[in-house]
Amino acid sequence: MKTLLLCPKDHGNTYTVFSYIQKQMAFSNACDLKVLSPKSDYYLTKAELQNYDRIIFGSGVYGGNLHKKLKEFLFSLKREDVKCRCKLYLALTWFGRSDSNMQVFNQAAEMLDEKGLYLQNNFFSCFGAGFGLVRLGHPNAKELAASLTWFKELDS
Ligand SMILES: Cc1cc2nc3c(=O)[nH]c(=O)nc-3n(C[C@H](O)[C@H](O)[C@H](O)COP(=O)(O)O)c2cc1C
Repeated sequence: MKTLLLCPKDHGNTYTVFSYIQKQMAFSNACDLKVLSPKSDYYLTKAELQNYDRIIFGSGVYGGNLHKKLKEFLFSLKREDVKCRCKLYLALTWFGRSDSNMQVFNQAAEMLDEKGLYLQNNFFSCFGAGFGLVRLGHPNAKELAASLTWFKELDS
């Protein structure tokens, strides 16, 4: 079971969570971290998607939307780009504004549904810092540990 953690960019709160999971799982060699920025060493090419049995999309929440790069990626994704039994998940960082994490989950689920792909209901979210003092110090050690627990409990 090989997992891809796919992040829009190679910095920020979501990347912090994914880097943590990847480092903790490094011993198993079953978890790769890639990003959607062409300039990054970790850039994902579409062909690589076929290597994975599980893909976890990561994003912040921006005015109730997914990160622009992830949205573009999901828009261009085709059913045949991923293995037929590949399981898809979402992990988010956010401020905790209203139900904006749920809005973003629904947005991703609908985009994937249009491709005939199913986004698993079990999504992860934790706080991420931004705008000065807002959620300063997040994601914290407890949230990072929770992200790893969530990851480990996903069906294998
Ligand atoms: C322009 C902008 C809009 C945001 N909108 C929301 C929002 O609608 N709901 C929320 O809970 N957090 C919101 N946030 C907070 C981000 O989701 C949070 O800081 C997240 O951790 C950013 O992830 P990143 O560091 O990976 O980009 C917003 C942040 C920015 C910069």
